[in-house]
Amino acid sequence: MTASRSAAHPVGGTGRIAVRNLGKRFGALQVFRNVDFEVGEREILAIVGPSGCGKTTMLRCIDGLLPHDEGEILVGDQVVNDPIPGVAMVFQHFGLFPWKTVYDNVAYGLRMDGASKADIAERVPAFVNLVGLTGFEQAYPYQMSGGMQQRCGLARALAVEPRVLLMDEPFAAVDAQTREILQFELLRIWETRPTTMVFVTHSIEEAVLMGDRVIVLKGRPSNIDETITVDLPRPRSRATLREPRFGELRERVWSRLMSEARAAEYQLERG
Ligand SMILES: Nc1ncnc2c1ncn2[C@@H]1O[C@H](COP(=O)(O)OP(=O)(O)O)[C@@H](O)[C@H]1O
Ligand SMILES: [Mg+2]
Repeated sequence: MTASRSAAHPVGGTGRIAVRNLGKRFGALQVFRNVDFEVGEREILAIVGPSGCGKTTMLRCIDGLLPHDEGEILVGDQVVNDPIPGVAMVFQHFGLFPWKTVYDNVAYGLRMDGASKADIAERVPAFVNLVGLTGFEQAYPYQMSGGMQQRCGLARALAVEPRVLLMDEPFAAVDAQTREILQFELLRIWETRPTTMVFVTHSIEEAVLMGDRVIVLKGRPSNIDETITVDLPRPRSRATLREPRFGELRERVWSRLMSEARAAEYQLERG
């Protein structure tokens, strides 16, 4: 279930992702169908969609944790049917081992890869430092705020030097201020080590701030309603939020999503 598997066994292949005609069902529930998209090397693709539309399910399919029913997923030139090397996930609820310290949580993926003790001793402090947790190596998750726990989750995913980073609403469980801080830290980290990223969020602002493109998922079963190119320059910063173009793009995504949200609300009210 965790950050995977590349550092000790470096793998060839790129971080390109191709999702073709993807479909997934749970019993009678068809979650999504006919989903097609590609993510370029070092591109950030943001995915937004209403709660329950299948965002987490789609990420778990790309991670190879969950089998899909139709279509095909490729990472680099590898077909994904099981977890493959070089793909790491950051979870909404941090996904840390509560009985492990920060150090051991960050080391986990490296140990799984069979990295040497010396390698681990060198890498863990570097990634702990990258996310601003130096001094907390021996702390346990319960001793830390939500924001700190997610910094740890991020360090654990980054430590294996993935070619693809899958983010499932990574900042949804922290308070609004911490969320802003972490968004800009993630952008800073991405600038220093650009990685292909699929960034799932229900925050429209976050999707536009992070993404090179934003995919809007709608419908039951869901599929791609629109793909919006975010032509905002990088590096992005707090100043990006004040650009008129940012506002225009946010409105565009908002209007695509809201028609769906209203329909869903009325459906609920009718029972
Ligand atoms: N393991 C599962 N078994 C059955 N249904 C599931 C399972 N996981 C998710 N679902 C259902 O699939 C749909 C999509 O869920 P999910 O991917 O978590 O949506 P999102 O992340 O967009 O909120 C929901 O209706 C959810 O109840
Ligand atoms: Mg989800």
